[in-house]
Amino acid sequence: MESFLKKDFNMILPRGSMRLIDRNVYAENITSIEVLIEILRTSLGPNGMDKMIIDKDGIIWVASDGFTILEKIEVEHPAAILLVQAARAVYKEVGDGTISTALLIGNLLREYEELIKKKIHPNILADGCLKAAEKSLEFMDKFAIHLSNKKDEKILKHIAETTLSKLPSKERKRLARLIVEAILRIIEEDGDRLQIDLSYVDIRKKTGWSSIESQLINGFAFFRELAHSAMPKRIKNAKILVVKGEVLIKQAFKLTKHSVLIEHPILISEHYNQENEFLYDIEKKIFDVGANVVIVEKGIDPRLLYHLSQHEILAIRRVVIEDLEKIAKATGAKIVTGVENATPKDLGAAKLVESKKINNQPWLFIEGCRNPKCVTLLLRGKNEQELNRIERLVLKALHAVKNALISGKIVIGGGATEIEVANFLRHWAYTIPTREQLAIKGFANALDSLVSQLAENSGLKPLDTLIKLKALHARGEKWIGINAYSKKIENMVKKKIFEPLLTKEQIIKSASETAAMILRINEVIKERKLKGKEFHEKRREEATRPERVKKIHREYGVEGPYT
Ligand SMILES: Nc1ncnc2c1ncn2[C@@H]1O[C@H](COP(=O)(O)OP(=O)(O)OP(=O)(O)O)[C@@H](O)[C@H]1O
Ligand SMILES: [Mg+2]
Repeated sequence: MESFLKKDFNMILPRGSMRLIDRNVYAENITSIEVLIEILRTSLGPNGMDKMIIDKDGIIWVASDGFTILEKIEVEHPAAILLVQAARAVYKEVGDGTISTALLIGNLLREYEELIKKKIHPNILADGCLKAAEKSLEFMDKFAIHLSNKKDEKILKHIAETTLSKLPSKERKRLARLIVEAILRIIEEDGDRLQIDLSYVDIRKKTGWSSIESQLINGFAFFRELAHSAMPKRIKNAKILVVKGEVLIKQAFKLTKHSVLIEHPILISEHYNQENEFLYDIEKKIFDVGANVVIVEKGIDPRLLYHLSQHEILAIRRVVIEDLEKIAKATGAKIVTGVENATPKDLGAAKLVESKKINNQPWLFIEGCRNPKCVTLLLRGKNEQELNRIERLVLKALHAVKNALISGKIVIGGGATEIEVANFLRHWAYTIPTREQLAIKGFANALDSLVSQLAENSGLKPLDTLIKLKALHARGEKWIGINAYSKKIENMVKKKIFEPLLTKEQIIKSASETAAMILRINEVIKERKLKGKEFHEKRREEATRPERVKKIHREYGVEGPYT
């Protein structure tokens, strides 16, 4: 029976809630994404611009990498949040490609908005978009360069350099060399398969000097001073005892605010003798176990420090637990809780433990560890901001080299791969006799727009560059792309601008899935945000709902009439 009541949306949702349908949804979603893209687009590529972000705590961040920018700006619109999530997912998966993912989603939606205006159903566009992505992946796999020697150091260095392309040439080359060296040290071969655990590369930062002074340490290094100035600064064939907690001499009597009345002077010396005995016990234990380096999480009794230095034992105190764990992992030590529990089996080993000054500050180097896979990348930079920026780029480059090694496939950068994929898609689209053909062509245009953005950011005329590139590729010059250093159109293979295939694949997968997801949304229902008194009343009502109270009582073992 037809209801005589008017179907009012507010019958089921609080007053003031909002509902958008069909065209309005697409328009709003796409516009919100375009606003976000506007911020990101100028940061793409080696000549990408930096953004200064002042977060809600007032901390200033200067960044040109997508992950940091997206992490620091608070996005509220649901469609824009989907884009941020997609870009982050790519970063988590392959450690790079955030801006490209975001831009590709934006470009795709811009293309499809035009087609929606021409009354093409968004579901058709979403299907076409996913098909185009699938075909692009197939094509890229064939287009990729397969590395005959996976561990080709030169190629790996070029991959690292491409990822570090936002740095000046000298620094880029130096860091790329260190990154490849680090990866080759931690690599594990399991038959034909390579395994790379990046947690073995510990990154430390030290301000002062330039990033060219960065170095790779075969082991572990951290900022700490010797516990006593008379201790040896260098121990060869170190046997390392790692202690959690503190190393204190038990006090014969505790110094508290209460006074202790000692009636005879002999009793005082008895107390001291007792303490000396405790001191001797700990000293002897360290000696008997065979340790010549002691690393402790908290404090070490000052009286013990002097005795240790007399025995040529090097001690370090106040080491954070994360570092303690890393030292244990590198040296093969077992962390003990208290010296009294130590056994010779708990000791770690390293060829050399040395206290050295860097920029007048004391660092401890543990080199030639039992576990040879542990390395430390000691990054240098003029200030905190620069160091953070370098660290983010180095992390990306570590991932890029790892990804290239694992898959053994690389592609060329500078937009050349995108142009080839777009050309292929256009040809393939003509064989599709449905409206999906338009979605596939839209995908190709979206890839082209990535290239014109790269050209624009490199100071070239975007449209002219794109036309030239397309013409050259159509003539079979498939390696031609934009060299952002020379700001010319050049052969990317000759210029060694290489990237891992995995990153490009992930960008296409994630961007197409997100664009399709956004296209399929035809209705947005926004509940009105409650504020002030209304908000607190709603919270109270929710918190005291009988089912919730019942659940809490059950969890905490409170018996009620219902149990
Ligand atoms: N020397 C170069 N010349 C031209 N293009 C380059 C060069 N080096 C890298 N590129 C291109 O720059 C693009 C990557 O730029 P960028 O690193 O700024 O973005 P992203 O990887 O998508 O995002 P992010 O690194 O912030 O996560 C790729 O398309 C790559 O081919
Ligand atoms: Mg990048």
